Amino acid sequence: MEKLQFYSLIFLLLLLHVSSSSSSSLFNISTIPFTTGFTPLFGEPNIFPSLDHQSVQLHLNQYTGSGFKSSDLYNHGFFSAKIKLPSDYTAGIVVAFYTTNGDIFRKTHDELDFEFLGNIRGKAWRFQTNMYGNGSTNRGREERYYLPFDPSKHFHTYSILWTTNNIIFYIDDVPIREIVRNDEMGADFPSKPMGLYATIWDASDWATSGGKYRANYKYAPFVVEFTDLVLHGCPADPLEEVVAAACAQRHDQLATIGITPKQKSAMKNFRSKYMYYSYCYDTLRYPAPPPECVVDPVERQLFKETGRLKFDDKHRRRRAKKRGQVMGARNYGNQEDE
Ligand SMILES: *[C@@H]1O[C@H](CO)[C@@H](O)[C@H](O)[C@H]1NC(C)=O
Ligand SMILES: *[C@@H]1O[C@H](CO)[C@@H](O)[C@H](O)[C@H]1NC(C)=O
Repeated sequence: MEKLQFYSLIFLLLLLHVSSSSSSSLFNISTIPFTTGFTPLFGEPNIFPSLDHQSVQLHLNQYTGSGFKSSDLYNHGFFSAKIKLPSDYTAGIVVAFYTTNGDIFRKTHDELDFEFLGNIRGKAWRFQTNMYGNGSTNRGREERYYLPFDPSKHFHTYSILWTTNNIIFYIDDVPIREIVRNDEMGADFPSKPMGLYATIWDASDWATSGGKYRANYKYAPFVVEFTDLVLHGCPADPLEEVVAAACAQRHDQLATIGITPKQKSAMKNFRSKYMYYSYCYDTLRYPAPPPECVVDPVERQLFKETGRLKFDDKHRRRRAKKRGQVMGARNYGNQEDE
């Protein structure tokens, strides 16, 4: 067996092990039926709940995309779903799974995003995470990554934890990004109640290779499936300043989730293999990194001043050898997206 394949296999087995053993113990939180927790956002004819109400399909066809949102807003929370993305040719298509309160606070909204960027066949899917607080839309905080698996083959769990102190994005219960609140961030750290949203839409103008590959409706409908939806937070009136007593207990519970040393190392591992853009290293955009950035001098060297990974194959191979592991991102060396 090729060395590369061998290590990929080991990594995959490790991932499978982590995801199967930890899901119930880490987050023993019950799921909510689609029809109980959510309402249509747009494209209602393209929203298909399953007969048992546990799952829902969103379709995008030549007429419209579609989307849903939670009926309630939550004062902090843990939000999660198992998602299976559209397969085959998906260039130009974006699936977003995010929290926001933009419907209520148009100019001062908060938002936490997973955005999956469609692709041409045979190439790895990419996705980004982002954060806005109090309408900070001119301060994007994107990170972009490759997915270590084909997200259209099986369901995978994508989760967002939002507490008063930190924000964690997870894939299959492995943390992939943590933002720790500090005072300097001010209102850029989301603080007002948010709802959970999911959408599929045509973003041909930018999603794939900066618009080079557009959506092709020969492959429609594009179908994304959601199941095991989790809305674990304190339902709150966004205009109510006082946090209800019932919320305090939830806050305490959320605060205990935290990151264990083992998870921290899994997160580091994921980021070193799959992250290919970080705003924290984009010095053209942010000459001084935003206050929550933890700039690691070793990582700094891996990124250009644009925050993009240096695809220097020779360098990466040498580095991979030294560490005794293969860099996953190296397989995607030809696949610049902008
Ligand atoms: C998860 O919660 C259920 C009910 O809330 C409980 O019966 C079960 O024992 C819990 N499982 C774990 C692993 O904590
Ligand atoms: C949020 O933004 C609004 C409008 O820009 C501003 O007036 C307000 O002071 C900000 N809130 C905080 C807590 O900084």
